Amino acid sequence: KHFEIALIPGDGIGPEVVAEGVKILKAIEKADPNVSFSFREYPWGCEYYLNTGKMMDDNGLELLQDVDAIYLGAVGYPGVPDHISLRELLIKIRRGFDQYVNLRPIRLLNDSFTPLKGKSQKDIDMLVIRENSEGEYAGAGDWLFKGKPEEVVLQTGVFSRKGTERIIRYAYEEARKSNKTLTSISKGNALQYSMVFWDQVFEEVGKEYPDVKTYSYLVDAASLYFVAQPERFEVVVTSNLFGDIVTDIGAAITGGLGLATGANINPDKTYPSMFEPVHGSAPDIAGKGIANPLAAIWSVSQMLDFFGLEEWGRSVLQTLETIVKQKDRLTKDLGGQATTSEVGDYFVELLLK
Ligand code: NAI
Ligand code: MG
Repeated sequence: KHFEIALIPGDGIGPEVVAEGVKILKAIEKADPNVSFSFREYPWGCEYYLNTGKMMDDNGLELLQDVDAIYLGAVGYPGVPDHISLRELLIKIRRGFDQYVNLRPIRLLNDSFTPLKGKSQKDIDMLVIRENSEGEYAGAGDWLFKGKPEEVVLQTGVFSRKGTERIIRYAYEEARKSNKTLTSISKGNALQYSMVFWDQVFEEVGKEYPDVKTYSYLVDAASLYFVAQPERFEVVVTSNLFGDIVTDIGAAITGGLGLATGANINPDKTYPSMFEPVHGSAPDIAGKGIANPLAAIWSVSQMLDFFGLEEWGRSVLQTLETIVKQKDRLTKDLGGQATTSEVGDYFVELLLK
C-alpha cells in the first residue's frame, strides 16, 4: 500500500520534530515490503508569512486535497500575531477539510511522569474526542463601539444539529468499538442554549447505543476529576473550547506537552486528515536540537492507525512505552539529555528490534 503525505513542518521546533517522525515512517517503509510512503513538503508558516504576506498559498487547500494525510509540526513565531498563524493556516485546514474530530489520547506512558500522587498507568488512559469544527471557536460574534465607554464584544458559540450529532455519534461508535465507557463534558447549568442542546443530543443519540455506559459531567467538575480521579474517564466527548482546555490538563497529568498528540480527522475521508503534536513552536528552545520529538512520533502512530496499518501503529506506541522507561535516552524536558535526533535514531533502533 502506498500513502502520500504532505509535510508542513512550520516554525520553531516544528521542522525539528517532524524530521524525526519522518525518520520513523521511512524506517517502516524499509522494514515492510508492503508499505511505502512519499512526501510532499510545503514551506508554509510564519516565516513564509513574513516573506510573502501569506501563511499558506492561496490555492493551499487545493494542493493538499489529494494527499492521504497531512503531517504538521507547529506554527507560531514572535512578531506574527497568534490569531493570524492559527486562523490562517491551522484552522483553515481543519475547517476547509472538515476535520471535525480531534482525537487526543491522554495516556500515562510512565508512572514517574505524572505529578499526581498515587496515580499510575492503569488510572490514566483515556481518549478525548473534541469537536473540531464549530462550537465556541466558530468565529461568530461582533465587536461594537470599539474603544468607547459603551464598548461590548460578543463571541457566540455555534452548535448545529449536524455538527453536534456527528461528533457525539463518532464518540459512541468509538466507545462501542473499544468496549469502554463514554463521558460527555458540558455545562448545561450555565449555558442554557448550547449546552442544554448538547446534553439533549448526547441522550438522544445514546438511545441507539444502549450497550454503551455513559456519564455526563459539568466541565468544572470534570476538570477537578481529571486531576483528582482520572480513572473515571475512558472515552470522553466534548466541545471545541472545553476539549482544548481539558486536554491541556490531560497533558499536564501525563508528562507535559512534549508527549501530547492530536489528530484532526475527517472520518468520511472526503478530505485528508491532519496529524500534529499538540505543542507549539517553542521559540524558547528552537534551533537547539533539544525539542522532544515523542509527541510528533505519537502523531505518526495515530496516522498509521488511520491508514489501517494498525499493527505498525501499535508497534510505535509500544516503542514509545519502552523508550520512556530509559531516562538517559530522553530529552531534557523528560529528565534526560539526549538530542532530538538521538531520540529519533534510538527510537528506530527499538522499533525494528
Ligand atoms: P509551546 O507549546 O510552543 O511551548 C510551551 C512550553 O513547552 C515552552 O516552554 C516549550 O519550550 C515547551 N515545549 C513545547 N513543546 C516541547 C517539546 N516538543 N519539547 C520540549 N519542550 C517543549 O507554546 P507557547 O510557548 O505558548 O507558544 C509558542 C508559539 O507556538 C506561539 O506562537 C503559539 O501561537 C504557537 N502554538 C502553535 C500551536 C500549533 O501549531 N498547533 C499550538 C500551540 C501554540
Ligand atoms: Mg490548545
